[in-house]
Amino acid sequence: MNNDNTLVLAHYYTEPEVQKMADYVGDSLDLAQHAQREKPKRIVFAGVKFMAETAKILNPDTEVILPDSDSTCSLVEQTDIIQLKAWSMQYKDHTHVMYINSSAKMKALADVIVTSRIVDDVVAAEYAKGNKVIFSPDRNMGAYLNYQYGYNMPTWSAVCEVHEKFKADELKRAMRGWTDGGKFVLAHPESPLPVLEMADYVGSTKGMLDWVKKHPYNFSTIFVATEEGLLYNMRELRPDLDIRLAPTYSGCQCNACPYMKMNNTGNVAEAIKTGKGLKIDYLSDSDIEKAYKPIARMMEYA
Ligand code: 13P
Ligand code: SF4
Repeated sequence: MNNDNTLVLAHYYTEPEVQKMADYVGDSLDLAQHAQREKPKRIVFAGVKFMAETAKILNPDTEVILPDSDSTCSLVEQTDIIQLKAWSMQYKDHTHVMYINSSAKMKALADVIVTSRIVDDVVAAEYAKGNKVIFSPDRNMGAYLNYQYGYNMPTWSAVCEVHEKFKADELKRAMRGWTDGGKFVLAHPESPLPVLEMADYVGSTKGMLDWVKKHPYNFSTIFVATEEGLLYNMRELRPDLDIRLAPTYSGCQCNACPYMKMNNTGNVAEAIKTGKGLKIDYLSDSDIEKAYKPIARMMEYA
């Protein structure tokens, strides 16, 4: 943290130059935990809006700044709050588990918030208590949990516009090529189910980084179905491995999250220096209070 008590947080999907400006780089759960632990005067959040909102909800007295006000997330933008409310009302006797990639108003409809790192455990714990569960807003993550554990959770229908583009057929084709060592597939659970079915490991950003760190062989080729920014961190950890992006459809370079990439060295520096950017000061006390409860349950689980 710098002299004027500003904490700069960056997600792994931001550009390497932006990550170098941060006091702390992490996945969405790490960043929420860090924001809560440090309690600074100001947070500059080089990530996307729902992450900055979560930091504000955890620290209502902190000034939280998002360098570019347009850095949103397709899972938020594809969800109409009135329709989500009507859908969840059909399942009043279910526990509503909601992915952190959701706006503060969406979170107010949830019973517990999860990140991709803890979603498996949280849903399992709800079933172990005898509860029925619904999952929102990520359709692919919900489909994966149903497939992997034999649940029958109703799920909302939004997708991550980046991960949705990975294609199992293209991945199969790419894996037929000759490589020096073994071939492995890692995938973020926002990817489509046919890609997840091919994966040696399905998990969060941090989970995939840990997998790569501990990988026991040299020269392996690792196909990764996630946002391309994470490959920088993976290659830093394991320069001996051949780490490649999993393919999307032929010719498409769609592995970058356009919202994360709105953070650049210029607007992050400006936010640190002058406080320029979107101030997360538009949430009412009631929004904060309602969204805090399911976030607090996530923090207890984590
Ligand atoms: P993580 O929780 O793994 O950081 O993922 C956040 C995200 O937006 C993935 O697309
Ligand atoms: Fe949202 Fe997908 Fe970007 Fe993650 S990668 S912030 S889920 S649009």
